[in-house]
Amino acid sequence: MSVAAACSLSRKGQLLQPPVKAMRRGSREPGGEEAEAAVAAADWDGEVTLGSERRRREPQQQQQPQQEVQQQPPLAMTVSGRDEEEEEKLEREHFRRIINAFRYYGINMHERVNRAERQFRTLPANQQKLLPQFLPHLDQIRKCIDHNQGILQIIVNDCTNMFENKEYGDDGNGKISPASTFDMDKLKSTLKQFVRDWSETGKPERDSCYQPIINEIVKNFPKDRWDLSKVNILVPGAGLGRLAWEIAMLGYTCQGNEWSLFMLFSSNFVLNRCSETNSYKLYPWIHQFSNNRRSADQIQPVYFPDVDPHSLPPDANFSMTAGDFQEIYAECNIWDCIATCFFIDTAHNVIDYIDTIWKILKPGGIWINLGPLLYHFENLANELSIELSYEDIKSVMLQYGFHIEVEHESVLTTYTVNELSMMKYYYECVMFVVRKPENSI
Ligand SMILES: C[S@@+](CC[C@H](N)C(=O)[O-])C[C@H]1O[C@@H](n2cnc3c(N)ncnc32)[C@H](O)[C@@H]1O
Repeated sequence: MSVAAACSLSRKGQLLQPPVKAMRRGSREPGGEEAEAAVAAADWDGEVTLGSERRRREPQQQQQPQQEVQQQPPLAMTVSGRDEEEEEKLEREHFRRIINAFRYYGINMHERVNRAERQFRTLPANQQKLLPQFLPHLDQIRKCIDHNQGILQIIVNDCTNMFENKEYGDDGNGKISPASTFDMDKLKSTLKQFVRDWSETGKPERDSCYQPIINEIVKNFPKDRWDLSKVNILVPGAGLGRLAWEIAMLGYTCQGNEWSLFMLFSSNFVLNRCSETNSYKLYPWIHQFSNNRRSADQIQPVYFPDVDPHSLPPDANFSMTAGDFQEIYAECNIWDCIATCFFIDTAHNVIDYIDTIWKILKPGGIWINLGPLLYHFENLANELSIELSYEDIKSVMLQYGFHIEVEHESVLTTYTVNELSMMKYYYECVMFVVRKPENSI
């Protein structure tokens, strides 16, 4: 399958450039007004749809410990009565803000390493002498930073082409401004997501998180009873797209959905631009100055992609949409299966997610979920965050009418784990398969 490079940006639902397969408009955003999602699309024999993601904050990216949580600085939010022009302006600003963050990475990281050097140099000479490798190690980290920055630059260059509308691309002045700590953390998390989704190193993690979901899909939609190309599967919160890609590889029609531009820029690069196996490398662990057994662990490279993303079968139907899952997917009874992995805790209100999933699933369709409940908005002031226990979520699902078919309360997984680190986080995830009954309306 040829993965088409074309990707285009829409303004207020007006596509500027083919090829595009889908346009969707948003629905109500929690806490906001009824808003139309400006949506754009890009295609890799499918489409990327971009637009409304700016409306919501990028939640704390990941399922990492609370001490890493950063307070989000004020940023563009949906405002009641905002006109079209204002909306476009905010979208453009957000787009540029994320591009700027990609470019600021090197400056930010060099500052970090310079600080380490300055502090080392404050030590008494006799102590410095004990560690002749310390400063050379920092120099090695500097090289790794420059390498990572090179990859990020390629990703960003690609995005300015990808989203054809120049206004959304580079503002042309080439200036790099300081990015927020929050955005820098998001970017560093995105680098780790490359490991999870597209490296050989991430395989054990994918086996624990994605494989149980894939097994359920295969079990529920076996190829001797289904025309797989007619089974529509949606993966909301698709990250860098590997789970959705794997599902499409099996012959199902699969669409990933994602609203973080950090993720979308990066997944566009992997899915549309990378083809040679392990042809790129990143240094995803250089940001970690603690819990390294050996200094060399910090500068371990990770190669990607471990598979050729273009190797989908010629008739595969794989697409990605960009935007808020709840805004984009409003059409009822469309999906045979919705697969959520480490996703439902990204909700301000998980009941809204359940509601959307219930509506858009076909009667008889299934929802497969695997993940923890580390609510992304829990520690963000002024953000709605309804933190339900799994027990409560289950009760809500049952009241909607879902039938529980599979339930495991303790599936051991990791999320973008650094195997070499002296500190690792494990999740005892909940996994369930629930069905919307055939006779439901
Ligand atoms: C914890 S990550 C999981 C990514 C991927 N499913 C995995 O397991 O690696 C959650 C993802 O959901 C995305 N996300 C959060 N809220 C979303 C929304 N309302 N619509 C679409 N994507 C969303 C985030 O940007 C993030 O990439």
